[in-house]
Amino acid sequence: THARIAIDRDFTIADVPRRLFGSFVEHMGRCVYTGIYEPGHPQADERGFRTDVLELVRELGPTVVRYPGGNFVSGYRWEDGVGPVGERPRRLDGAWHTIETNAFGLHEFVDWAGEAGVEVMEAVNLGTRGVEEARALVEYANHPGGTAWSDLRRRNGAADPFGITLWCLGNELDGPWQIGHKTAHEYGRLAQETAKAMRLVDPSIELVAVGSSNRQMPTFGTWEHTVLTHAYDEVDYISMHAYYQEHDGDAASFLAEAVDMDAFIDGVVATIDAVKAAGKHRKQVDISFDEWNVWYQRGLDTDDQPHIVSASKQWREHPRLIEDAYNVTDAVVVGTFLHSLLRHGDRVRIANQAQLVNVIAPIRSEEGGPAWRQSIFWPFARIAKLAQGRILRLAVESSQVPTARFGDVDAVDAAATWDEEAGTISLFLANRSLAEAGDVAVDLRGLAATGVRSAEVLTVPGDGDRLSANVETDQERVGLVPLRDVGLDDGTLRATLPPLSWAA
Ligand code: AHR
Repeated sequence: THARIAIDRDFTIADVPRRLFGSFVEHMGRCVYTGIYEPGHPQADERGFRTDVLELVRELGPTVVRYPGGNFVSGYRWEDGVGPVGERPRRLDGAWHTIETNAFGLHEFVDWAGEAGVEVMEAVNLGTRGVEEARALVEYANHPGGTAWSDLRRRNGAADPFGITLWCLGNELDGPWQIGHKTAHEYGRLAQETAKAMRLVDPSIELVAVGSSNRQMPTFGTWEHTVLTHAYDEVDYISMHAYYQEHDGDAASFLAEAVDMDAFIDGVVATIDAVKAAGKHRKQVDISFDEWNVWYQRGLDTDDQPHIVSASKQWREHPRLIEDAYNVTDAVVVGTFLHSLLRHGDRVRIANQAQLVNVIAPIRSEEGGPAWRQSIFWPFARIAKLAQGRILRLAVESSQVPTARFGDVDAVDAAATWDEEAGTISLFLANRSLAEAGDVAVDLRGLAATGVRSAEVLTVPGDGDRLSANVETDQERVGLVPLRDVGLDDGTLRATLPPLSWAA
């Protein structure tokens, strides 16, 4: 396998949108409770935040974290999560068949986000609620004081406003599983009016309209078109969600799923721009890809996939839900998803890996026990740190790998950024070939590189296979190791990637 890549300083796509490296904390399973928050854990601080998890979050480096859902938000009353903890109500969460204690709510999340150094992205409930509750929440969070809602925030311990800029207008309301599922017309009008009312409270906010829950939805395309036809002028972004998994051992197709992600993004961009043209709008709506990841969905009505819940099932607090263990193949695929997001960084300006801890997450933790990094932690952590400056438009010529789902695809998938001030180029490469090493030559035209600052690779560990994963009893089996076969030769960077690998 071989690839030739040309980089030219004059061919750039956009500035690196730092919000592309976002994550997601939902009140689901053990993401909040026993994930980021576990009073009584030996490493919890006085507020109950797990400092071991916080340290891993800082190392992962997300820039923005979406909260509090997800499907959860479509039945959530945000007022339940503020005020004296002892007086907060216990509620049934229908989305995940869970008892919500409300011990953790908005103030706790804002505090936690400050500790983690991330921006808060807050979702409002447009499933069971509407305009009034959404504008009240903006007033509670962002108004300095002197009104009922803002003074309640102050009485609850936050003298300063939270200053939340990014807001999601609901979650997956195109999905029949969603509490308060709507038609595109119903949602488009509600999003338009809610956006208007929220902005009248705080004109500085940015708003994300709900797009399709995935590319296979029967309403994909028409949903975005209808929603934006109503709400184009009132919103700044439309959302995308996508989850991928390996089917029936077909690793070749799974490794090529970024081809699907590329096409999905292109389709949403085309739809946005069609509405813009027909409506003679001047401003540009962009994309918030606010849920993406690998997720092994195992069918309905199981503990893993509680969208539909059998009557016999117990109501519990923070049950163990969709705690996927990620392997080497998943990590390489996650690397290629981040490449796809970077390649579309001119239009995808926000993206959130779903989720942050335990629930389909790069970080795992056990109640009363340890926290550790999953394989997919590594490409995220490195790209979030190294992708700075401008995104480069690459010319890639690669040998091909055959796949059942996508035909022939590039064996080597790549993305790169250039930080002119720091004088560094960051190059991210995946070798999708399961059997062959990949010889890559990068022509660094006009960029006069003088040396390789660092080179690391994630691949199959010596004693393992492509399904090797990090588990509680073996937490560092899959990780980054130095990439040795790399060097500069007369303006050309040459690297050899092991079969099935991701490198920075
Ligand atoms: O991230 C898990 C779930 O996936 C979210 O709650 C929902 O929005 C999506 O279906």
